[in-house]
Amino acid sequence: MSVYINDSSGKDDISVSGTKEEPFKSGAFALFVNQTGSEPKLLVYKKDEDTDGGYVEISASALKKARKGAEGLKKKAAKQEDQDKKKKEQDAKDVAKRLELMNITIKEDLSLPKARSMKIGRCYSAVDERVKVCGWIHRLRLSKSVGFVVLRDGTGYLQAVLSGDLAKAYQTGTLTLESTVKLYGTVRKLPDGKTAPGGVELDVDYYEIVGLAPAGDDAFTNRVQEGADPSLLLDQRHLMLRGETLSAVMKVRAALLKAFRRVFDEEGLTEVTPPCMVQTQVEGGSTLFKLDYYGEEAFLTQSSQLYLETCLSSLGDVYCIQESFRAEKSHTRRHLSEYTHIEGELAFLDFEDLLTHIERLITSTVQYVLEDSVAGPLIKQLNPDFKAPQMPFMRLEYKDAITWLNEHGIKNEENEEFKFGDDIAEAAERKMTDTIGVPILLTKFPVAIKSFYMKRCADDPRVTESVDVLMPTVGEITGGSMRIESTEELMAGFTREGIDASAYYWFVDQRRYGTCPHGGYGIGTERILAWLCDRFTVRDCSLYPRFSGRCKP
Ligand code: 4AD
Repeated sequence: MSVYINDSSGKDDISVSGTKEEPFKSGAFALFVNQTGSEPKLLVYKKDEDTDGGYVEISASALKKARKGAEGLKKKAAKQEDQDKKKKEQDAKDVAKRLELMNITIKEDLSLPKARSMKIGRCYSAVDERVKVCGWIHRLRLSKSVGFVVLRDGTGYLQAVLSGDLAKAYQTGTLTLESTVKLYGTVRKLPDGKTAPGGVELDVDYYEIVGLAPAGDDAFTNRVQEGADPSLLLDQRHLMLRGETLSAVMKVRAALLKAFRRVFDEEGLTEVTPPCMVQTQVEGGSTLFKLDYYGEEAFLTQSSQLYLETCLSSLGDVYCIQESFRAEKSHTRRHLSEYTHIEGELAFLDFEDLLTHIERLITSTVQYVLEDSVAGPLIKQLNPDFKAPQMPFMRLEYKDAITWLNEHGIKNEENEEFKFGDDIAEAAERKMTDTIGVPILLTKFPVAIKSFYMKRCADDPRVTESVDVLMPTVGEITGGSMRIESTEELMAGFTREGIDASAYYWFVDQRRYGTCPHGGYGIGTERILAWLCDRFTVRDCSLYPRFSGRCKP
């Protein structure tokens, strides 16, 4: 039998017949596909020969080479066949294994004691009890024989172990971070030397998947990546809140507000909830958010102070914990456009009483937060060097602060020496506070740099009975003052600030219908938290921070 070879038009393919019309490309391949029977005669195309259509019998040396090549192809084919066979066997094994794992049914053993449903925080003291806990998978480590899960439910973290069939089961392999599960098992005390939250571990005997979170590109860890641009992380704030640091700050925040309410109660103040949509300003027109209120001009409140003042005559001393709004264009680390404002107002007291009340409020509240079983340890974790403030706080009059700043070479906003009447802006104020290193009651600011309602000091009418509480690392956390008692003086304040007094008739009436000495203050929740939790910015202390350029999610 003759087989034709043409190294320019031929093809080395098993579908090729090897005829003159359909030649092979190489002699090696021609011999390789014609292994059965006697060796065929190979005819090779030679362009310049005058032979049968250009084909001549292969030379002895080329035939030897073709035979060697065919041998190589044979070996290669055998190897490939072997590999294919092994892969097929492995695939079959994998399918069988998967079927076997899929067949592992995770079933609750009903002969076990009934599991008591509880939140993670309670599990720590339920040693040797069979419990059911529901939550989100915070951490996950799976191997063939054992699975470690750290479950989170907002009350704490619980280390759980899946072993035996539970670890092997196909469904366990599908678990991802942030999936929700219900775990059933026995709480075991951890042996000495091992650590896990609460000193316990859950020995899981059964579990159910409630909702699987995405894997792959959309996996949780791809949505919130540590060190990513802060703006991108803020877009993912709803997921960031699941992280340990942010959720810890939010827990301290809850404890802080609870502690404030407790101290307000001890101090005899009643909680009220004034409106946030208003038609008056408190802290200057430049930071007002305007809104169209059914065709009338209205604002989002800057402070509930004026409303609190109206409650004194009916409810006595009052407080509120309410959102305040400031259209602050500045992107500083301590300004938000919306913040939670803790405000108190007290009647029949003098400036000294007010200062002492503020000191007591802050020290007692901080003490309660530190004693709180949840928040106390979290503050230790977030701010290990935090020292609770002690009464009395250092008192520093504005005029003495000006001297102090000049003595320490700190300049004003114009990069000049401070002079009486200058505003002590954020940077200078923080430098001073950080250098002094203890809480300061900075008092008696000049009339011109404070609001229209502040009472003047009897012994120096250039200054007001006003106070800012300054804390190291943050600066001002509280602003307060005694309020003007007389109608005439208040009217003069409106005129000085260019405010139309007619919209404030209800506020003025407090002076007309039985005036009294009174004073109050406002505390920025996010600022006091930044100090307590050692956060760089108030943005880290707000659930969904608002500042210029950000009003989502
Ligand atoms: O000093 P402020 O402006 O005082 C008042 O609003 C008074 N009317 C309060 C009162 O006497 N009832 O604000 C009080 C506190 C500040 O010390 C600061 O902690 C916080 O509110 N604060 C802000 N926090 C975050 N972002 C802002 N833009 C803030 N502006 C004020």
